[in-house]
Amino acid sequence: MRAGDRVEASGRGRGAATGNGEAFRLVEAGGRLELRPPGEGGRTGIRAVFPPDSRSAPGRSPLARAFGKRILRILDPTAGLGADAYRLAESGYRVRAVERHPAVSALLESGWASDRAMGRIPHEIAERLEFLHGEGLDEIARIDSPDVGVYLDPMYPRPRRNKALPKRELQVLRQLLGEETDATELLDAARVRAARVVVKRPRRAPPLRPDVDFALSTKLVRLDVYMNPRNMGSGGRGGSS
Ligand SMILES: C[S@@+](CC[C@H](N)C(=O)[O-])C[C@H]1O[C@@H](n2cnc3c(N)ncnc32)[C@H](O)[C@@H]1O
Repeated sequence: MRAGDRVEASGRGRGAATGNGEAFRLVEAGGRLELRPPGEGGRTGIRAVFPPDSRSAPGRSPLARAFGKRILRILDPTAGLGADAYRLAESGYRVRAVERHPAVSALLESGWASDRAMGRIPHEIAERLEFLHGEGLDEIARIDSPDVGVYLDPMYPRPRRNKALPKRELQVLRQLLGEETDATELLDAARVRAARVVVKRPRRAPPLRPDVDFALSTKLVRLDVYMNPRNMGSGGRGGSS
């Protein structure tokens, strides 16, 4: 997709649009694409920026602890704006990140190209990370090696009570995409092919499948880890194996 394109909200995201016929717009600003929601006038839209804002504490990130040291490559089939994929590449993994929505994928491609051209990405991270436009399930089906882990960060269910609002990027993505319903399908497919699957969930939400091997909680989220004992002898060693 290109600057100037109109983008309609998809699925259940439609209900969150303004209802006055306006659509999201892709706009070129500051050398990269941004996506502006309907009804917000000239307010800055959402963009993919690398390195992403990092609020993580120093030391080994919870995501890296969830995957452990035996996993070498990670497939992120729910790439979104690429922040988690970047952090995983920063932690030393080789990462393939896949995004299916054409407008979100255009944001990723444009932000990644722009930040690399500006020399903001260390060479070794640029080498380890790639972004693709496509369907995550197709990429999961292509996993052909036992050292691959899968990271899933599906859109969260809408909170019942409105506590702290999520980051603007997530609010806009939710408005665009609605609640997605295929997260469990992604998890089931990934568990068959990958050595380890890590799912990001809201802290108090039920797991996508109950047989979680272990979980790591941070202040805001929980990482549910599913291990596939048929691969890599990865069963039973917990967090940093
Ligand atoms: C919550 S966002 C991910 C945020 C991301 N972890 C980040 O750091 O920016 C979920 C994204 O996954 C994408 N997605 C969901 N299901 C997918 C699938 N089956 N294949 C590809 N992309 C998918 C959605 O379009 C959405 O952009």
